[in-house]
Amino acid sequence: MAGSRGSHDGVEVDLQLHRAHSARMYDYYLGGTTNFAADREAAGQALAVFPWAPVAARANRAFMHRSIRFLAGTGIDQFLDIGTGIPTSPNLHEIAQQVNPQARVLYTDNDPIVFAHAQALLRSNPAGRTVYLQADVHKPEAILESAELREALDLARPVALSLVALLHFIPDERQAHAVVDRLKSALAPGSALVISHGTADFAPAAAERVSQVYAAAGTPVRMRGREEVRSFLDGWEIRDPGVVATHRWRPDPDGSGPEITEAEASAYAAVAVKP
Ligand SMILES: C[S@@+](CC[C@H](N)C(=O)[O-])C[C@H]1O[C@@H](n2cnc3c(N)ncnc32)[C@H](O)[C@@H]1O
Repeated sequence: MAGSRGSHDGVEVDLQLHRAHSARMYDYYLGGTTNFAADREAAGQALAVFPWAPVAARANRAFMHRSIRFLAGTGIDQFLDIGTGIPTSPNLHEIAQQVNPQARVLYTDNDPIVFAHAQALLRSNPAGRTVYLQADVHKPEAILESAELREALDLARPVALSLVALLHFIPDERQAHAVVDRLKSALAPGSALVISHGTADFAPAAAERVSQVYAAAGTPVRMRGREEVRSFLDGWEIRDPGVVATHRWRPDPDGSGPEITEAEASAYAAVAVKP
C-alpha cells in the first residue's frame, strides 16, 4: 500500500497508507470513513489505553463549533484554520457562514489526505470564500506569505486563528511558542486565537499511555498542563470562561451537550483576543 496515491485537481498526492496518520486516526474516532488499516490499528491501540478518545474528539469538535459561532457573532468574518483535519461536516466555514454568509476561510493542513479531500472544504457559500493550502505549521512564513492566504484573507482586518487540537503535535516547547508567536504577530488588533490542546492534567496515566501509542506510530505528541496552554495566549485578552476543559467552554445554554467528565475530554480549550 506504500505510496498509494490520490489526486486533487489533477495533482497526484502520496497518501502514505502504510503508516498511521493523526488526521485519519481522528477521523476514525469521529466515526468517519477516511481511514485505513494502519490508522485503525494505531487507533485501536489508543482506544485500548484511552477508551474515551471518541468522546474527546466529539467534545473537541463541538468546542470548535461553539467558539467559531461565538467569534462570528462578534463580527469576525475571516478565519485561518491550521490543522483542519479531514473534512467533517459541519466544517468551520459552514459554522461561520451560518452566522455570516460572507465569511472567508483559509484552511491548511500538512497531511496529503486532507488535500485529497479538500474539495469538500471548498464548497463555500457563494457570498463568502474558502481556500485550501497544504502547509506545515512549523513554517508559518509559508502560510503567511502564500498566494492562497492573500486570496482568502485581508490581514489588515481581524482574523480568527484556529489552532484546534494541533499544538500537541509540536512537542518542542520553544518551537511551539515560536510558531504561535509568529502567527499572532501577523494578525491585526481585534483578531482572535482559538486553541484546544491535549492534556494529562485530568487522566495522567491514560494520557501518558496514549502519548506512547502516538509516538510509536510515528507521531510524537506533548500533552501540556493548563498554565502551559494558557501561555500560548500571552499578551492577548482571554475571553470567559478562561482555559477550561473543552466541554466546559461556553456550553450550549439549553444543556443539550453531552454529560462528560474532565478525564474523558482530556483537553483544554480557550479563546483570546488581540488588544
Ligand atoms: C486531531 S486533528 C484536528 C482537526 C481539527 N482541527 C479539529 O479539531 O477537528 C489534527 C490535525 O492537525 C494536522 N497536523 C498535525 N501536524 C501538523 C503540522 N505540523 N502542520 C499542519 N497540520 C498538522 C493533522 O494532519 C490533523 O489533520
